[in-house]
Amino acid sequence: MIKLTSPNSDEPEPSSLSELAKSIDACRRCDLWKNATQGVPGEGAAHARIMLIGEQPGDQEDLTGRPFVGPAGKLLDKALAEAGVDRKEVYVTNAVKHFSWFPRGKRRMHKTPTQQEVASCLDWLRQELKLVNPSIIVCLGATAAKALLGPAVRVTVDRGRWLESDLAEHVMVTVHPSSVLRVPREDFDDAYAALVRDFKLIARVR
Ligand code: URA
Repeated sequence: MIKLTSPNSDEPEPSSLSELAKSIDACRRCDLWKNATQGVPGEGAAHARIMLIGEQPGDQEDLTGRPFVGPAGKLLDKALAEAGVDRKEVYVTNAVKHFSWFPRGKRRMHKTPTQQEVASCLDWLRQELKLVNPSIIVCLGATAAKALLGPAVRVTVDRGRWLESDLAEHVMVTVHPSSVLRVPREDFDDAYAALVRDFKLIARVR
C-alpha cells in the first residue's frame, strides 16, 4: 500500500476543486507540461460517491482540458451506463495530469508516463481524493492501480473484486477502457462485457 502523504511544503493546499485545477495547470514538478497544452484536472460532482482514476489525458483531453472525452471516454460512458452506474455520481480523473506523447508524423502518440512522472503527480491525486472523499475508488488500468495500491497489484489477477485498502470504503481495479479498444476485433465483445461486469459491482454498492 502506498501512503499518500502531503509533501513538506509551506504552500497552502487548494481548498476547492477549482483552485486545485489552477494549481494542476501550473504544475512544473516534472517536464510533461513542456509538450502539453494544459494540465487536465478531474471532473465530476464535488462530493461524488465514486472516483474513477485513469492513467493520463490523451490527445483530445489535452486539447479540451477535460478528462475522458476521447474514444476511451466514450467507451467508459457506455460501459458505465450499461452497468447501471449513474454518471452524476462519478468523478473521473487521472494519475498523471499532463499528456505524455511522442510524435509520429502529424499525430501525437500516447507515451506511458515514467514511474517518476507518476510519482511527481501523485500529490494532485491525493488532494483530489481529500476534497472529493469518495466511498468508492476504481483504478482503470495498471498505472493508476500501481500508483495508488503499490507495485504488487496485477490488474489481470486483481480486477473485479473489492480490495483491502484504507483509501476508501470500497477500492477496485479493472482494465483501462483503452485496452478494451485495442483488443483484436474478435475479442472485443468479451473484453467489453468483462468491463461492464466489473462496473456492475459498483452499481450494487449502496
Ligand atoms: N485515458 C486516460 O487514462 N485518461 C483520459 O482522460 C483519457 C484517456
